[in-house]
Formats: sequence, structure tokens, C-alpha cells
Amino acid sequence: MTQQTLSTCAGPSQDELKAMVGQAALQFVVPGEIVGVGSGSTVNKFIDALASMKDQIKGAVSSSMASTQRLQALGIVVFDSNEVERLSVYIDGADEIDQQGHMIKGGGAALTREKIVAAQSARFVCIVDESKLVQTLGKFPVPVEVIPMAVQRLTRQFATLGGTASVRLKDGQPLVTDNGQHILDVAGLQISDPRSFESEVSQWPGVVTVGVFAFQRAQVCLLATPGGVKTMVF
Ligand code: 5RP
Repeated sequence: MTQQTLSTCAGPSQDELKAMVGQAALQFVVPGEIVGVGSGSTVNKFIDALASMKDQIKGAVSSSMASTQRLQALGIVVFDSNEVERLSVYIDGADEIDQQGHMIKGGGAALTREKIVAAQSARFVCIVDESKLVQTLGKFPVPVEVIPMAVQRLTRQFATLGGTASVRLKDGQPLVTDNGQHILDVAGLQISDPRSFESEVSQWPGVVTVGVFAFQRAQVCLLATPGGVKTMVF
């Protein structure tokens, strides 16, 4: 079997699927406006594709320092979210998305700023490869940004829901977010009612942001599959 046949049999790689869906998201960018931009490896593909439209948009509001750097390196102006009242579209990835557009986000630790930019946007377009589509949220450990002094108390509180929380580490130390806080990753949850889960956990003292996006769910999901990009509208 030739090398070419082998790669055809294997289908597109996950990286190629991310590039496909990043490119497909350009159709939602409104010329003349500022676009909301999320974070992560799929969004990086979108940012790279957005460079081809940089003269048609005013700029972007970004949800992480990493995305800001990437946008600026490509010559795209980045506005502070306080400078912009309303965005017509926010484009971001997810760690999981269900059939109603509820998501788990925060695998890249940018969940707080992602939720802020999503909240100021009229439409959330989620870009994922098909591995992220689930029936019930919770197989991916739920990221929760927390105030460090609340870590032990919140760990016990998640245990009452059947979750096992661990502090996310980077280079052997607790990861510090763009906002100077820590991340708890909570495994073992089955989130059958994402809105009530988000409501409840958001009220626990010490929680900055829970990585369940039910109130800021997606209205559109672009799903990259080996057969092409599918559009789901919620
Ligand atoms: C970052 C996020 C990302 O959107 C999520 O982790 C998906 O990332 P990737 O596209 O790299 O799989 O929520 O906080």
C-alpha cells in the first residue's frame, strides 16, 4: 500500500479537522464589526484564518492573553471588552458540547474571560471536532476557576455532588490563570441539568467561574467530521 493510500484511509487528523472548522467559522464574521474571539487550539486555527479578513473587520475582543498575542502578531487590532458594548458574534471552542448547545469549557484555563465575552455577544458560534459532541456533559472534568484560599472547602463541596476535584498544576505548581486565580478540575460528574448545576456552583463562595456554559450556551455549533463541517443550530 502506498503512503498516499494509507493517509487517505486514515482520514483527516484532529489538527486538520480543527483547521477545517476554523476556516468554516469565517462565514459568521460580520464585515465592518468587532468579532469576539475565544481561546484554544481550535480557535488558533480560526485566528489564523481570520488574518485573511483582517482588512474587513474593525478588530477583535479576546478572551485570553494567548489569543491576544496571536491576534496582534497577525496585525489584528484587539479591543478591551470594556470598550465594546455588544458583539454580534463570539467564536470559541469547547471541551464538550451537548445536543442543546450547553458546553464544558476551560481546558485552556481561560473560562472566566470566555464567559465574559460570550455574555456580551448576541450569538455564540462553537467550533469543535466531532470528538467533543456528547449526550451528557461531565466526562471531561469540569474546570472551575477558584480563589486559592477556598480550594479545600470547595474540594469537599464538590465531593458532596460525587465529584473529585484536583488543583490543576503547571510545572509542578498550581496553575495561575490570567486573572491570578487557580483551577480545580472536577472529575466524576454527570451533569444532566446544566443550568441548575451552573446556577448552584456559581453561588459557592470562592468560585470565580464554573466551566459549564448553560446560560451562555452556543446558538450554533460547527462540527468538523471526516465528511465535512456540519452545522447544528440550537
Ligand atoms: C479554553 C477553552 C477551549 O475552548 C477548550 O479547552 C477547547 O480547546 P481546544 O480547541 O484546544 O480543544 O475552553 O479555556
